[in-house]
Amino acid sequence: MMKIVTIIGARPQIIKAAALSRAIKNKYSTQIKEIIVHTGQHYDANMSQVFFDELGIPSPNYNLNVGSGGHGSQTAAMIIGIEEILLKEKPNCIVLYGDTNSTLAGALAAIKIHVPIVHIEAGLRSFNKAMPEEVNRIMCDHVSSFLFSPTKTGVINLIKEGFNTGTVPPFNANNPKVYHSGDVMYDNSLFFSEVAESKTNIIEKLKLQKNNFILATIHRNNNTDEPKRLNALFKALNDISNENKLDVVLPLHPRTAKLLEVNLSKDLYTEIKSNPQFKIIEPVSFIEMVALEKNCKLVMTDSGGVQKEAFYFEKPCIILRPETEWVELVKCGAAIIADANEEKIKNAFEVLNSKTDFEFPKLYGDGKAAEFICGEIIKYII
Ligand code: UD1
Ligand code: UDP
Repeated sequence: MMKIVTIIGARPQIIKAAALSRAIKNKYSTQIKEIIVHTGQHYDANMSQVFFDELGIPSPNYNLNVGSGGHGSQTAAMIIGIEEILLKEKPNCIVLYGDTNSTLAGALAAIKIHVPIVHIEAGLRSFNKAMPEEVNRIMCDHVSSFLFSPTKTGVINLIKEGFNTGTVPPFNANNPKVYHSGDVMYDNSLFFSEVAESKTNIIEKLKLQKNNFILATIHRNNNTDEPKRLNALFKALNDISNENKLDVVLPLHPRTAKLLEVNLSKDLYTEIKSNPQFKIIEPVSFIEMVALEKNCKLVMTDSGGVQKEAFYFEKPCIILRPETEWVELVKCGAAIIADANEEKIKNAFEVLNSKTDFEFPKLYGDGKAAEFICGEIIKYII
């Protein structure tokens, strides 16, 4: 039996981990024993526990309860906790997802004590090192032994950074194996899409008209922490809502919720609060999110995961960032990068609202990425 330690901490990682846990339960339970470590980076019930309750992820074996903090103190506390667990559990490998501080902490803890690293969502690049996530993902990729990229672009990025796709076993951090695996979040979107609408009545609860509302999420630090950008985003959203008589649903990340009143101008804050079509709500569960994504008209987001899910559910998307690592979405015309620029956002809305010839090709695998990943690590790690 192979033992893996999975590190989760932030909301999207908890959701991503559901795909692998499901594959282990359904197909590999006699071959893989999974130990789940929650760093505690996200801790509000609606940012963490709800996903365990809803997605069938086993409860964490350990919770480091690290909580919020500066990058240094948060990451350092995680490294200390993860190292202790790795020394005690002696796993065959550590599984890390994405690009958060929990990912970086897992990578630094594991590489120093020679625990092989499996990085899921390897190779993605925004080419903007001002993003903490870009630093985290580069560092993690370069100490990993197994790199599972969801996209071809990710593999190409890795090759440009010196990775060799023709390596032969045994694989290790000096001789890593690069895969194009597809996206575990595509697995999840397909799986939970089937049950979403029967398990939630969020569309009725929020009195939404199907295919006639905008779903928005905003949480990137450069958007929330910079008043000019935050004002431009909310002004654009509010104007589009008013001019088109469209509801906007905004499940608000706690980071943004804490800064809204502080960083928005008083007038805009009052206007949004008094617009009955601007529905700011608490973060929702994944199943509720899938129901909102499936039934909306258009998505506006600075989230990595949400822009891709919009594509999975064949909805156009306005990306509220200066760049994206999911470049295929833009290339095929399903998404437009508008940054936090009021005019660009309004123009993007006009373009996507009048466009009729959308294409949503299958770019992210076959919905079985998690099974593929399990199969490969069993083959090469023990
Ligand atoms: C983190 C990730 C980001 C990811 C996002 C997913 C890093 C550097 N960033 O950003 O890549 O897209 O998670 O959502 O790892 N807070 C709460 N309750 C919580 C969690 C957070 O109130 O349960 C508030 C705290 O004020 C905290 C702030 O949100 O300081 C930011 O949380 P943090 O985990 O540091 O970063 P995120 O913005 O969530
Ligand atoms: N999500 C959710 N509830 C919400 C907002 C997002 O379940 O209120 C899900 C979303 O469907 C996606 C993931 O959280 O699967 C994305 O996480 P987030 O936007 O926090 O981070 P990112 O993907 O940008 O790292």
